[in-house]
Amino acid sequence: MPTVLITGASRGIGLELARQYVAEGCRVLGTCRKPGEASALKAIKGVSVVALDVADLKSIDAAARVLAGEAIDILFNNAGIYGPRGKAFGSLDYEAWVEVLRVNALGPIAVAERFMPHLERGAKKIVVAVTSQMGSVGRNEAGAEYVYRSSKSALNMAMKCMANELAPKGVTAIMFHPGHVKTDMGGAAAPTTVEDSASGMRVVVARLKPADTGKFYNFDGAEIPW
Ligand SMILES: NC(=O)c1ccc[n+]([C@@H]2O[C@H](COP(=O)([O-])OP(=O)(O)OC[C@H]3O[C@@H](n4cnc5c(N)ncnc54)[C@H](OP(=O)(O)O)[C@@H]3O)[C@@H](O)[C@H]2O)c1
Repeated sequence: MPTVLITGASRGIGLELARQYVAEGCRVLGTCRKPGEASALKAIKGVSVVALDVADLKSIDAAARVLAGEAIDILFNNAGIYGPRGKAFGSLDYEAWVEVLRVNALGPIAVAERFMPHLERGAKKIVVAVTSQMGSVGRNEAGAEYVYRSSKSALNMAMKCMANELAPKGVTAIMFHPGHVKTDMGGAAAPTTVEDSASGMRVVVARLKPADTGKFYNFDGAEIPW
């Protein structure tokens, strides 16, 4: 039974990934900032809930210690924030920008670093980052959303570095655009449901081969330009 660790599993896409991986028969380590408030996550039978704030290195270290000795097959770096919306050139919020970079770009790489011993014990050794097509430079035709876009571009580049560096160790590292998804972040009018987003990504992950490392996928398996 593979073990899957999911960050940001308290709600949205992460919560649905936890539900679906449990239903598939996986052992799920659902991580969240505030386990005391994660009632939907705790209600899923079979999920082990672990405290983990991806913006806090001490919290990541503590979670890695709580799970010391465990084997993890799939690390799903899903947690993310959008930051301030609609700030255009001339009114950029630099403090908020640093915070979004900390959560979206640095956090997932720090989690991968701290949990590499656990992944090396696992059979699959898959690291997934839920980024966004908004981080695609090739697809950017709008002069807006500097903060969120640049945080996801930075994550994509760092993931690509990791994919190249860790391929000889058998680690497969990929990135996803999960779709424009009906969540607190995506909004009620978004066209994709959490169910379709999560199941699409699970299908892609299940079919991954080592040669796929470093690829940037849409949730339906199509590749996305950088
Ligand atoms: N929805 C979309 O249309 C869309 C599109 C492209 C990419 N994405 C990406 O998909 C991922 C999931 O998004 P979503 O739509 O499910 O968003 P969401 O509904 O806003 O949920 C975000 C999740 O991330 C967690 N989180 C935020 N900051 C965290 C931190 N410092 N440490 C740990 N967890 C933290 C939240 O936990 P709390 O409950 O504690 O706040 C929550 O569980 C994100 O990386 C997002 O950028 C989403």
